[in-house]
Amino acid sequence: MHIKQITAFVTLGLLSAMVYYGMKFIFDSLDPTKKKPGQLTHEEAEQLLIKIGLEGIKLTDHELALASTLVDPLNMSITWADIGGLDGLIKDLKETVIFPMRQKSLFAKSSLLSSPKGVLLYGPPGCGKTMIAKATAKTAGCRFINVQVATLTDKWYGESQKLTAALFSLAKKLAPCIIFIDEIDSFLRSRNISDHEVTAMVKAQFMNLWDGLVTDGESQVMVMGASNRPEDVDTAILRRMVATFHIGLPNERQREEILGIVLKNEKVENDLDFKHVASLTEGCSGSDLKEICRCAAMSCLRECFNSIDCDDQNYEDLLSLNEENIRAISTYDIVNAVEKCRSQFIHHR
Ligand SMILES: Nc1ncnc2c1ncn2[C@@H]1O[C@H](COP(=O)(O)OP(=O)(O)O)[C@@H](O)[C@H]1O
Ligand SMILES: [Mg+2]
Repeated sequence: MHIKQITAFVTLGLLSAMVYYGMKFIFDSLDPTKKKPGQLTHEEAEQLLIKIGLEGIKLTDHELALASTLVDPLNMSITWADIGGLDGLIKDLKETVIFPMRQKSLFAKSSLLSSPKGVLLYGPPGCGKTMIAKATAKTAGCRFINVQVATLTDKWYGESQKLTAALFSLAKKLAPCIIFIDEIDSFLRSRNISDHEVTAMVKAQFMNLWDGLVTDGESQVMVMGASNRPEDVDTAILRRMVATFHIGLPNERQREEILGIVLKNEKVENDLDFKHVASLTEGCSGSDLKEICRCAAMSCLRECFNSIDCDDQNYEDLLSLNEENIRAISTYDIVNAVEKCRSQFIHHR
């Protein structure tokens, strides 16, 4: 009798626990304001804001959802010196975007000379668009929101719009600030009838908020977009990006400069023929050149591994390797790497 009662109690207890956690799970997953993975808590966001020199600013829940995409410009490692072969473009960018952003008071009255509210960087992939956007934020002394399109499109009705509004209100709180949208063609592509209703609404709202920046002469918020396919970007968006910069594939002289930068901190032979390598890499982007150099450096390292017959016993020998054991990268290594990588580049173009 006793045992039966105990079993009944235990079963009842287990059942109610299951029902409780089951219901909790269902309600939690139905709650649109629930914290998502990667999202900051209020305390973490506060810490981040203090770090970038903003104290006492309160964020709403929606702004908080976007705060994790915030980048502290002082922590960004990219400088102009890391970008090769684009001096003319950088000079242009400094004059039209960065200078007016820094010298706000000088241009406060002029609507023609004040910093543009929309900037587009376009050109083939791997040529330095993202690098330029980051270096711009750093030198213009701006905060930088690297918008992930996925954070703006929420499956809950109405949430996307709240997030889009929060993006602009957060940027205003952080001003001067650059809202950076990489691959803007995938987010703000030409509108068409097959667009999901929410997508169409978010686009329209985005443009409204953007226009708000343009009419508000005081605001120091700028939208910067990067695109590989500007022809796919909505024309209404293109019209708002008054400053456009084309970043094309590097020519021979530019490739030579990029190679110099990529190999700046590597062990290379003194007579490495940068000119010759540059002449062999027609059609390669900056990131292709980096890949070639990585491949060449790897071949030197591999040679070193091969010189030690690598099995478990020699593993300790391998760990005691140091820089001196590894050969310097030669022109020959890079020429070899160009051959090896060529098929790969043709493949992904
Ligand atoms: N002009 C350049 N100078 C130096 N490195 C470059 C240059 N262009 C591209 N790279 C290299 O290629 C990588 C990818 O560049 P990225 O700016 O992301 O290209 P994009 O945004 O245009 O696709 C960079 O991290 C850098 O290592
Ligand atoms: Mg990029």
